[in-house]
Amino acid sequence: MNKLKLELWGVKIDLKLLGDLFFLTGAGLSMYYMLNHLLNDSIDNSVKTKEAKKKGATVLKKIQQVNPDLKNLVFNEYEKSLLNSLVTPEDINVTFEDIGGMQEVIDELHEAVILPLTEPDLFSAHSSLVQSPKGVLFYGPPGCGKTMLAKAIAKESGAFFLLIRMSTIMDKWYGESNKIVDAIFSLANKLQPCIIFIDEIDSFLRDRSSSDHEVSSMLKAEFMTLWDGLVSNGRIMVMGATNRQHDIDAAFMRRLPKKFSIGRPTSVQRRSILRKILVDAKLDENDFDLEAIVADTEGSSGSDLRELCREAALKSMKEYIRENYKGGKKVTTNMDPNQVRPLKTTDFLKHPDSFIPSANID
Ligand SMILES: Nc1ncnc2c1ncn2[C@@H]1O[C@H](COP(=O)(O)OP(=O)(O)O)[C@@H](O)[C@H]1O
Ligand SMILES: [Mg+2]
Repeated sequence: MNKLKLELWGVKIDLKLLGDLFFLTGAGLSMYYMLNHLLNDSIDNSVKTKEAKKKGATVLKKIQQVNPDLKNLVFNEYEKSLLNSLVTPEDINVTFEDIGGMQEVIDELHEAVILPLTEPDLFSAHSSLVQSPKGVLFYGPPGCGKTMLAKAIAKESGAFFLLIRMSTIMDKWYGESNKIVDAIFSLANKLQPCIIFIDEIDSFLRDRSSSDHEVSSMLKAEFMTLWDGLVSNGRIMVMGATNRQHDIDAAFMRRLPKKFSIGRPTSVQRRSILRKILVDAKLDENDFDLEAIVADTEGSSGSDLRELCREAALKSMKEYIRENYKGGKKVTTNMDPNQVRPLKTTDFLKHPDSFIPSANID
């Protein structure tokens, strides 16, 4: 066979060998990069699950410290991974006191939801007639306090609060979502009193008619069976929040017998919410007109109001900072928080230039 050979400066080079060498180096390199990529991915994943496990273990330790009764419980892998979504009453910093303009809803929640959770014996008087509702639904536009209400209920009732965002479960546990749904209920059962709060409940319980694939309808059926099988002493409650109540399956609507509409706050409610939000703020004695702000914020949600107050506070802070820093350098030696000016009406208004203080109108 006539081999291809090249003679260069007296060295004989086999061209085929050279080609093979190039090919092998190329293949080796791509293999290296591929493996590296795969390994990194699995490292990433194992770090993530490790982190999740570590967090779950910390939550478990904490709840066992508070509740020694829970020390003997055994949790399966799925329940353990859910511990990440568990909020203990000590972690929640929202109380009914912080919620403005919802006294009627709060009173009703107290009687119908909290007392049955905290005083189940009292509610056994009329047997099953006065049992707590198995499900509560908050519906209304975003930012009006639905999540806040649910958290406050968990805080005031001393119950565990399992915060489930259904879209996350469907994405993260694809293929295993039925196991995680089982775990939601079995974990709640072990921890009771427990509130299972499903935020964005519509993303999971969308009406069957609207393009629904098989997995999610099986999951729905599973969810409903478990829900119906809930121990009936009322120490587990399913609570849902949505801003699209019309998208929720009728079968689920029946299981959420207690419904609260949480709408955009009226002027009376806005006054009360603003008072709550501004309770610690420094307000100008002569130039702060709450009524003008209430009138100017028609249509705003509770979270819009909070944002408005935050912006107002920032405005006055920025002024102070600008006075004391020139070109990024501090020009005052003693910065004093008391020197920050109090908040004025115009800090809160959409069109501060056209505002005429009511004291000046005759
Ligand atoms: N009624 C209210 N009283 C006081 N703050 C409120 C009220 N409604 C909303 N907020 C503020 O807006 C934020 C968002 O509310 P959130 O409960 O998440 O709304 P939703 O769940 O209805 O979308 C809350 O954390 C709170 O700061
Ligand atoms: Mg919410």
